[in-house]
Amino acid sequence: MRDTVTIDAMQDNRDEAIRRAAQVLRDGGLVVFPTETVYGIGANALDPAAVAGIFAAKGRPRDNPLIAHIADLDALESLTSRVPPEALRLAEIFWPGPLTMVLPRSGLVPDAVTAGLDTVAVRMPSHPIAREIIRAAGLPVAAPSANTSGRPSPTRLEHCAEDLAGKVDLMVDGGPCAVGLESTVLSLAGEIPRLLRPGAVTLEELRAELGVVKMDPAVLHHLEEGAAASSPGMKYRHYAPRARVVLVHAGAGQFAQYVRTRAGEGVFALAFDEDMEGLGVPGVSYGPAGEPAAQARGLFAALRELDRLGARQVYARAPEMGGVGMAVYNRLVRAAGFREVRL
Ligand code: TXA
Ligand code: MG
Repeated sequence: MRDTVTIDAMQDNRDEAIRRAAQVLRDGGLVVFPTETVYGIGANALDPAAVAGIFAAKGRPRDNPLIAHIADLDALESLTSRVPPEALRLAEIFWPGPLTMVLPRSGLVPDAVTAGLDTVAVRMPSHPIAREIIRAAGLPVAAPSANTSGRPSPTRLEHCAEDLAGKVDLMVDGGPCAVGLESTVLSLAGEIPRLLRPGAVTLEELRAELGVVKMDPAVLHHLEEGAAASSPGMKYRHYAPRARVVLVHAGAGQFAQYVRTRAGEGVFALAFDEDMEGLGVPGVSYGPAGEPAAQARGLFAALRELDRLGARQVYARAPEMGGVGMAVYNRLVRAAGFREVRL
């Protein structure tokens, strides 16, 4: 057990929060901090023992590598062995922000961060508190999402506390996350750019800049047992509430009808604001219909709310897939363990 201190950085102790977070990181400890995507659990990325603490706190499989977070572009050079011109272009456009780039690693990055791969994932977050903490620490910060492995990612400090209280040294409260889903992960380590995880920087935006971008099969499909994953994170069941989730592709009327006939103890619907009436079962909304950015912000909190309400069987109405909607779909279909119904 660790003694977990919590500081609210939205109050007047913001400077204190940043100073203490930087100190904990330099001392090899663990800090939960806000980013614009989801909360992260951070450690000094150059210290293998500190990084090992992250895996222990989350119960994360060792073969799932971490993202190194930086606050300035200079740090990119020290972590990588080659930075292709496309990476610099994307950095100029999308950094700081919700884009992670996978690049050939340098010798400075410990195996604990990359899980022994010859690449490293790097991101420059835009959340001012995240950037100030990284800058004050003067280190790259390895940080996965601040949840227990397999649970929905945290978009509010309460979610982090549910999973990690007593397992980290400091938690910094920065309020709810503006994006709500984890960053887009793009590999630039191969010949053709490859989308490994969809996020708020969309495939359409990346293609507009780069021309060809391949989509990794694991983004939309279930990986075969034993298949090699380009992004090891994609082979694990993820984002899952405790309930069994089925993703239902249907219009509002059809969805309501489908759910009503399945009412029973522990049965819940996860759908849009407009769907909440007339379902015949309790409903939790993940945002307004047709507004993928708002759905992205609401999804993980909605999944945790279903747990809190004791849901055992959840019928989730599928989002539209364009733009950020692809990222929303990607998380939901994993939460559903790829169980899908098309009406
Ligand atoms: O928005 C985010 O990215 C958040 C915040 C805290 O920055 N972080 C986050 O980290 O989502 P995590 O560890 O939950 O997800 C990192 C993903 C995993 O799927 C991992 O497998 C993949 O990135 N990844 C990391 N390094 C990689 C590498 N070298 N090659 C391929 N995939 C990699
Ligand atoms: Mg995660």
